[in-house]
Amino acid sequence: MKKILVTGGLGFIGSHTVVELVNAGYEPVIVDNLSNSNIKILDQLTHIIGRRPIFHELDLCIESDVTSLAASEPDVMGIIHFAASKAVGESVELPLKYYRNNFYSLINILNAYYGKPLNFVFSSSCTVYGQPDQLPVTENAPVKPAESPYGNTKQVAEEILRDMVASGSKYKVISLRYFNPVGAHETALIGELPLGVPQNLVPYITQTAIGMREKVTVYGDTYNTPDGSAIRDYIHVVDLAKAHVAALKLMEKDEFSGYDVFNLGTGKGNSVLEVIHAFEETTGVKLPYVIGPARAGDVEQVWGDVTKSTEVLGWTAELDINSMMASAWEWQKYISQNPL
Ligand code: WQD
Repeated sequence: MKKILVTGGLGFIGSHTVVELVNAGYEPVIVDNLSNSNIKILDQLTHIIGRRPIFHELDLCIESDVTSLAASEPDVMGIIHFAASKAVGESVELPLKYYRNNFYSLINILNAYYGKPLNFVFSSSCTVYGQPDQLPVTENAPVKPAESPYGNTKQVAEEILRDMVASGSKYKVISLRYFNPVGAHETALIGELPLGVPQNLVPYITQTAIGMREKVTVYGDTYNTPDGSAIRDYIHVVDLAKAHVAALKLMEKDEFSGYDVFNLGTGKGNSVLEVIHAFEETTGVKLPYVIGPARAGDVEQVWGDVTKSTEVLGWTAELDINSMMASAWEWQKYISQNPL
């Protein structure tokens, strides 16, 4: 069985990717330190895939532990690296936590398997683009000065990977630049599990709809967009997960060498108000919301050009905004009835 190490594999995107890896005939080996995930997700994954995945509880910042992991799992053929701190606002308050965690973990895992011909998929983000000069934004767009330490860790990580490949390492590397992952698995057994008050729009919407929050605040409606609210490229987390399998398969081809980058979005933008209305139409639940001030650090509008992903990666998002809202709502109802 083709073993794939999945760091951060109990997290939101990681857990959905574990499912798609099994569906594609791979054997995922999950590594997670549970700092932003729940061990019960392992049980949920067992229900979905029909067997308990291999799991190592491990902090990738501890080099000796990562070296031991590589000794105990020597026959992995690929690594998908999700493990990182990812809250934009928190990164502004605690930059050293973000630089330490996100860089130590990346460098330790790269060092642990260095010298082996592995396929490495890196979880990057559209935040590297900042507010693009042109939309839709392509992979060739200039990387802009990061708006947060979190975004900077993604930019610098991509440079670390590019430099490592250029130095003649045996790794093949693909960086996947996510736009806005939302939604949940069709079984509603896994989904987004924000700790505390959600920072992201869709979990805040579903927690408002279930009655945990009083109302949604739309952060600004005076942007230069059709309805004044900010625009993002929301992508279903299952589509996103499938793209990681496509990235592994591309690197398994002899003609792929070195390093490449792909946008993972739908190529379509939706405003905050459009997302709210899509949720109401899809679920039949009326959402209380108010308009508030714009949030510091937000870009006005960004959505991806996904031509390269379609033509080179051989992947295209299939699920629409209504499916994203419906699955997010089913997950919210499930997790509210069955707290982990
Ligand atoms: C989306 C839109 C908000 C909450 C961040 C990270 C990105 C990625 C996804 C990790 C914005 C508006 C939000 C609310 C609102 N994470 N909003 N009311 O900021 O686009 O991206 O999460 O990879 O890296 O930067 O996502 O969901 O926070 O916001 O109006 O209560 O919804 O202003 O326009 P964002 P988001």
